Amino acid sequence: MSTSGQISIRNVCKIYDPDGMNVCAVDNCSVEIAAGEFCVVVGPSGCGKTTLLNAIAGFHSISSGEVYLDGKILCSPDFMTPPGSDRIVVFQNGALFPWYTVEENVIFGPVVQGVMSQSKAKKAASELLGELGLRDISHSYPGELSSGMKRRVEIARALLNDPKVLLLDEPFRAMDALTKGVVHEFLLQVYDKTKKTIFFITHDLEEALFLGSKVVIMTTRPCQVKHLVEVDLPRPRDFKARSSTRYLELKNLVVEAVHEEAKKAFEAGERELA
Ligand SMILES: Nc1ncnc2c1ncn2[C@@H]1O[C@H](COP(=O)(O)OP(=O)(O)O)[C@@H](O)[C@H]1O
Ligand SMILES: [Mg+2]
Repeated sequence: MSTSGQISIRNVCKIYDPDGMNVCAVDNCSVEIAAGEFCVVVGPSGCGKTTLLNAIAGFHSISSGEVYLDGKILCSPDFMTPPGSDRIVVFQNGALFPWYTVEENVIFGPVVQGVMSQSKAKKAASELLGELGLRDISHSYPGELSSGMKRRVEIARALLNDPKVLLLDEPFRAMDALTKGVVHEFLLQVYDKTKKTIFFITHDLEEALFLGSKVVIMTTRPCQVKHLVEVDLPRPRDFKARSSTRYLELKNLVVEAVHEEAKKAFEAGERELA
């Protein structure tokens, strides 16, 4: 299993449509993420979080700056490493093939890419699904599963590639509070087991603190780092962490910083509409 996964985001700027609309989404943004760190990014809607994730994933280039993975350049204005199995993205809306079973979905990527034979992938998937408590559903189809279960399968599918980095863009956004609680504990269990580097975007401040080792609070667009919060809550964490004094202290800190930016974003929106 790969254990590295250190990400350096250095002075990154991203301007969409420079010759037309000229939308500056990210401006001189720098973030250091240690190998095995659970880094959560929060910030107002439209501030540039997904843009940053897309640059790491290799979905688009950047206008200036560099992104490195384990000291090797991933992305700069004149270079881009295409998406690969070292950086797997779990999307907000999910992407399981409805006509494949859970097991078939999980093995699809590595088999199609020729990284694993069908039989090796099946064996690895069976072990992984067992470890993650998903063995009972390995022959179910996505349509038979709850949203929380589907999201767990997507995370398992990502892990079969043994990525260095897991990139999650608001993966639990549409879920109700109870389902979220369960998938949070699942992801924490995955993190404790694998110690993968995780880059996780969310709007939900409580989710950010409960999951993350570090919370990066972004400014309103163009995004820059406003505040870094080291989340020193002990691991393994369970739902009880959410009632600890330290959690509540950290929550106040994060709420204040985000509120300031949300107000600015709102006022900027009002100005744009005026
Ligand atoms: N392909 C694009 N072309 C032009 N503008 C874009 C494009 N993608 C995103 N944007 C703009 O860049 C800004 C940041 O977007 P995004 O990174 O999706 O924000 P977030 O994920 O924080 O909500 C937004 O104002 C958005 O409208
Ligand atoms: Mg987004």
